[in-house]
Amino acid sequence: MQLYIDTANIDEIRQAHDMGVLDGVTTNPSLVSKEGVDFHDRLQEICDVVKGPVSAEVVSTEHDAMVEEAEPLIQIADNIVIKLPSTVDGLKACKTLSDRGVKVNMTLCFQPLQALLVAKAGAFLVSPFIGRIDDIGSDGMELIQQLRQIYDNYGFETKILAASIRHPLHLVQCAMIGADVVTVPFKVIQQMMQHPLTDKGLAAFLADWDKLQKAKGKQPAGV
Ligand code: G3P
Repeated sequence: MQLYIDTANIDEIRQAHDMGVLDGVTTNPSLVSKEGVDFHDRLQEICDVVKGPVSAEVVSTEHDAMVEEAEPLIQIADNIVIKLPSTVDGLKACKTLSDRGVKVNMTLCFQPLQALLVAKAGAFLVSPFIGRIDDIGSDGMELIQQLRQIYDNYGFETKILAASIRHPLHLVQCAMIGADVVTVPFKVIQQMMQHPLTDKGLAAFLADWDKLQKAKGKQPAGV
């Protein structure tokens, strides 16, 4: 399962990249707006750090305008992926751009038939939003299961990118179902390596080691 970070914050991206396990980045207009920076400049900064796919979303809503808006974004770096909404115009733009060899991430996917059509249109990634489905009292993970089965039934190569991830359990479930990629807020990436028994166990090991060193008159562990 590939791991992307879902943020436009360059410090978070650098920290996640330094962990050595980051495969890509997703951004969206809300995340960029939170940073208050120039979109193109920030994408350039991100692509200087991360060599895997970096999703950049268009804000146009009609086919021609979407394709036009994608042009300067594609020029920023080879690893830019154009993010389009899962609408009819988005579907048409997906087909146009994919036929030209541009990688597309179809976002705001909330039901399996959207995912079926965007795969037929050649999408590189599809982004089902798990957390937002959970938010309205439905089961977001069921959508991941449906997409996995549909794509496997027909051998579609579009990658399932589980998005709107809210907590580590979402990641465990995505990995068990077989989502190809998860895009995760920095806070949840940090939680992935946390366990209180790891901390407690390490503290006990170090304390025991210190006792031994003190008994021998040597430097304590962790110094
Ligand atoms: O990648 C999509 C993601 O940013 C949406 O997450 O938490 O706003 O539903 P959220």
